[in-house]
Amino acid sequence: MRTHVVDHPLVAHKLTVLRDRHTDSPTFRHLADELVTLLAYEATRDVRVQAYEIETPVARTTGTALASPKPLVVPILRAGLGMLDGMMRLLPTAEVGFVGMVRNEDTLEASTYAERLPADLSGRQCYVLDPMLATGGTLAAAIKFLTDRGADHITAICLLAAPEGCERLERELAGLDVPVTVVTAAMDERLDEKGYIVPGLGDAGDRLYGVA
Ligand code: URA
Repeated sequence: MRTHVVDHPLVAHKLTVLRDRHTDSPTFRHLADELVTLLAYEATRDVRVQAYEIETPVARTTGTALASPKPLVVPILRAGLGMLDGMMRLLPTAEVGFVGMVRNEDTLEASTYAERLPADLSGRQCYVLDPMLATGGTLAAAIKFLTDRGADHITAICLLAAPEGCERLERELAGLDVPVTVVTAAMDERLDEKGYIVPGLGDAGDRLYGVA
């Protein structure tokens, strides 16, 4: 697994406002959306493309187009939904599948409660959206879910990551014969005893949707 922390002053600035407990939900949603677009730009560096012939007003030339099958964007419900628009702004022709995962707050284990995905993901490049890579349980389960269906290239886009989550992903995905990359705006210090990222930004779903 490869982890890519995007080092850019605009990313750092937007993330700082997201972290601030005084930032209200509308501002949080807007900035999360912008931040995802910046992360998506880095995350799609290895999106599959093919040569594409066009005619300019002056001459014929060979350009680039997204290859088929088109990439699949998979927000993990609920909080990943807040990242979807920012991602689709860069990849408007991608398809979208949904996976609903819930974390048991006592055991911190993730389980799937809903999914809407193509049955066969053979040869698909998948972009998984999950704002907080905390324990890594949810993301590891979602990635296994996608690779079990045939996905052969996974990029996870996370606003924030914790070292514990990255280590768990490394461990749980070690046997997987599929390249996995995590793209994030920051690698924070650690998790607290409740599984929250420190310093983090709190509960991403609550902050996006205004539930206390
Ligand atoms: N999920 C969140 O929303 N925030 C955290 O800090 C950890 C998991």
